[in-house]
Amino acid sequence: ASSNVVNIVEVGPRDGLQNEKGSVIPVDTKIELINRLAKAGAMNIEAGSFVSPKWVPQMGGTADVIKGIRPLPNVHYAVLVPNKRGLDDLISLLDQHTSHPSLSDEISIFTAATDQFTRANLNCTTAESLERLAPVAKAAVNRGLRVRGYVSVAVACPYTGKVDYKRTREVAAKLRDMGCYEISLGDTVGQGRPWEVAEMIEEVKKEVEVEMLAGHFHDTYGTAVSNVLTALQHGIRTIDSSVGGLGGCPYSPGATGNVATEDVLYALQDSQYKVAGSANGTINLEQMVDIGWWISEKLGRESVSRAGRAIRAR
Ligand code: HMG
Ligand code: MG
Repeated sequence: ASSNVVNIVEVGPRDGLQNEKGSVIPVDTKIELINRLAKAGAMNIEAGSFVSPKWVPQMGGTADVIKGIRPLPNVHYAVLVPNKRGLDDLISLLDQHTSHPSLSDEISIFTAATDQFTRANLNCTTAESLERLAPVAKAAVNRGLRVRGYVSVAVACPYTGKVDYKRTREVAAKLRDMGCYEISLGDTVGQGRPWEVAEMIEEVKKEVEVEMLAGHFHDTYGTAVSNVLTALQHGIRTIDSSVGGLGGCPYSPGATGNVATEDVLYALQDSQYKVAGSANGTINLEQMVDIGWWISEKLGRESVSRAGRAIRAR
């Protein structure tokens, strides 16, 4: 029997904000978002990306964001890294801030189940991306960092449609082999239906232990909470979510945000599952609702979390 403890990876500050059009969100707002998420009990926070600012302008200030956060013990602040340059930038930042050993102890590397998506996101084929990422993962592990891997378009691809789950499985296994402690399976477009997600997970499980897998669901077609529950039923215990349902991928046209953290917390309340967190042993739903509204209003709109809206209205 597997554990009933569910880990949340809060991706709002990265996946949530990376796709925002218009002016670049101030560094101080990003710092406040991360600090508030940690205070509400989030223990895994994707804080930003060391990617090309030409490709993703919203992530340009990540070094200042990382420098500015008030790191809490037991919180992992991860940054997305697309290449050696990104890792080098993180390491030089850590070297300048040795007084904060817990500042950022994790990188996320990413590739995809289709060449077409990898080309749009990383400007190379999937095989080339794996070749480039292997030494990055190795250097990060040698440095004592945890490495998390993403397989984007695990279910469906905006360029090629339905994905062959064997490809998802192969790419996940390669990320595992290069030292990733966890592999997050991304429904980047948010088109996946629960039965498709179930089939995909079962295929990946043939080669990668389910304990190493995470589910990352965008909510474009309204199936994300269902997909989270499906993933849990198939043994996955780590779920990526975004406060306020923020987000979208710049290279997945029309895709909306990640499943809202509030909606996941609400769905799992009073269930057999227990969400891990540092606020009385869990993540505080009411505080997440407030944060979801606060950041959405900073972006000039309302929270799109369904639970967040309902709780605010009561
Ligand atoms: P490229 O144009 O092929 O590479 O981009 P390049 O080496 O020619 O670099 C282009 C410019 O970027 C150069 O500057 C480099 O110096 C600079 P220039 O000489 O023109 O002034 N550069 C960098 N700057 C800062 N940090 C770096 C870096 N590397 C190069 N690390 C590259 C290749 C990989 C750089 C580019 O494709 C890239 O940055 N891609 C990142 C795309 C991205 O962040 N996508 C969103 C995250 S993935 C996602 O959202 C999916 C996920 O949520 C899961 C899911 O939903 O499926 C994770
Ligand atoms: Mg994503």
